[in-house]
Amino acid sequence: MAHHRLAAAALVVLFALPLGACADGAGDSDGATAGGATLLAEVAGYREWARAPGDFAAPLNPSSGPHGSFVDIYINDVVEQALLAEPDTLDAWPVGSIIVKDGWEDDEGTLRFVALMEKTEDGWYWEEYADDDLESPLYAGTPSACVICHAEGSDSVRAFALP
Ligand code: HEC
Repeated sequence: MAHHRLAAAALVVLFALPLGACADGAGDSDGATAGGATLLAEVAGYREWARAPGDFAAPLNPSSGPHGSFVDIYINDVVEQALLAEPDTLDAWPVGSIIVKDGWEDDEGTLRFVALMEKTEDGWYWEEYADDDLESPLYAGTPSACVICHAEGSDSVRAFALP
């Protein structure tokens, strides 16, 4: 059902765009209004995904990173599969890997940021949103802020390592 709603939202955007009425057209639909235009819209439902392994496996994990005091980190099936590889056989996360992080202000459900990364043919693609606007990212693409700080990670992943 969720799938159909997403497809419907995408159609709405497809037809709304040629009119150039971005704000008007998108404002009417509920849910994934970006209709697949952003990575966040594409991964609606990520909170049902598996959680990151290791230190960040628990909900509302205290974080020293810049994305909120507590974080929830979710991984898609590509990352899940990659984590099952024999140790030291991977030197990069596969194309299609997606990791989403909810950054919480407190441990009572006050969202502050949503940050995402996806491995594409061209490397990692990044998005970050503030809690009050989950439709227009604060950052998207390959922002140097994200890239530089994540460079010390395991193929840019900070919360857990390649197997
Ligand atoms: C000052 C360093 C720093 C900057 C800048 C930074 N991050 Fe992070 N990020 C971290 C750390 C540390 C973690 C590990 C989890 C934690 O401690 O919250 C992390 C975790 C993540 C995760 C979960 C996957 C992983 O790598 O562990 C995503 C997704 C993410 N960051 C996205 C972003 C995006 C998007 C940006 C740019 C808008 C960004 N980060 C900028 C430090 C940073």
